[in-house]
This record gives sequence, structure tokens and C-alpha cells, in this order.
Amino acid sequence: MGVLDSRRRRLLDEMGVPVWRLRGQSQGPPAAREPAMDWAALLAGIGDCDRCPLHATRQRAVPGVGDHDARLLIIGEAPGAEEDRRGEPFVGRAGKLLDAMLAAIGLDRQQGVYITNVVKSHPPQNRDPSAGEIAACRPWLEAQVALIRPAVILAVGRVAAQSLTGTNARMGALRGRWHAYGESAIPLIATYHPAYLLRKPPAKAKVWEDLLLLKRFLREAAG
Ligand code: URA
Repeated sequence: MGVLDSRRRRLLDEMGVPVWRLRGQSQGPPAAREPAMDWAALLAGIGDCDRCPLHATRQRAVPGVGDHDARLLIIGEAPGAEEDRRGEPFVGRAGKLLDAMLAAIGLDRQQGVYITNVVKSHPPQNRDPSAGEIAACRPWLEAQVALIRPAVILAVGRVAAQSLTGTNARMGALRGRWHAYGESAIPLIATYHPAYLLRKPPAKAKVWEDLLLLKRFLREAAG
């Protein structure tokens, strides 16, 4: 992204995204860190990883899927049972709904989007990943962020949203507004997990609001 013109700067103000949070600006946080490894090393490292106990029970590590030059990075919680079998994130019912959410704002998982999770191995019985498991997996996520250098991050679900914003706030308090991720302060928006929407369809209206914020950002700000 180049230098902001005044129109774009005004739009960002209206959207509540502090201008310094955008990459390529002269003031503000440091530029994104240089990648510590390339994609081949990253995928091999995740495949062999034994940094947490989940490696002993997983069928396959699930690094992520999508475009290595994505503008949008979607981060969920952890692979489910179907993802564990197939080695790809968000392929079960929740994944189909995520694809529909993306399609509603003109996106798809193969182009301009990369999808991953805070934890790359399936927790048994679909339990939430522990704080220790999330911390053990964090270097892989940071390496992915450094390689992709996304313009914006969408955190789906409470576990991802809390971990990426470093808070214990409830999803209702985290969604609907902008956050900044990491040293390079990548704009981040959080929303409900598609699995939650399958259980609580009325929450779709709030997710739609969040998706519109994201769509507007991608159209106006990160252009
Ligand atoms: N839920 C997640 O958070 N991630 C997946 O990959 C699948 C379901």
C-alpha cells in the first residue's frame, strides 16, 4: 500500500482504523518482520512439530490453505475431526458456512485469502486448545503472518479472537471494531465462529456487520 491520499485517510478515520496501523506508512509501528523461514521450511516444520502433546493424537497437522499472497488472513481456533483427517482447515460444516460467508463479500478461499488456525493440530474431543498449546504453536502462526504479510486479519471465534488480541474479553465485546495484531499492528477484526452460527443462526446478523466492515476495508483502505 502506498502513501495514503486524503480521501483514503478520511475513510479510515470514519472506519475507526488508526492510520498508523496501516502498512507502508512513515510513522507508527515497525514494518512487518522479515520472515524467519520460507514456505517449504514452514510446512515441513509444522508437519514434524512435537512442541505440544497434540502431536501424539493428531492424524495430520493442518498448516493452512490458500493464497500465499493473500490480503486477507483468516484465523480460526484449531482443526476439527474432519480437518484432522483431511489436513485442510475448515472443511466440515463450519467450513462450508465460512465459504458462504466469504462468497457473500465476493471472496473465496483460494484467491486473495489464506485460512489457518491458532493451533495446527486437532485437540481430542474437539475441546478448546489450552493456553500452553496455543503458545507452543504461536511461532508457526507468526511465521505465516511474516510470509503472507496480509493487509487484514479476520479472527473467527472466541479462542482465536482472545488469543490474537491478548485479552479475555467476551466475543460480544471484541467483535464489531478494529484491533491491531502484532508488532506491525495489522488491522484485525473478530467475529463469531461459523460453528457457533450453526447453533445460533440469529448471530448471523452481527457476523454480516463484521463482514461488511471487512469488505469496506478491503475495498477502500487496503486497495
Ligand atoms: N474450526 C476451526 O476453528 N478451525 C477449523 O479448521 C475447523 C473448525
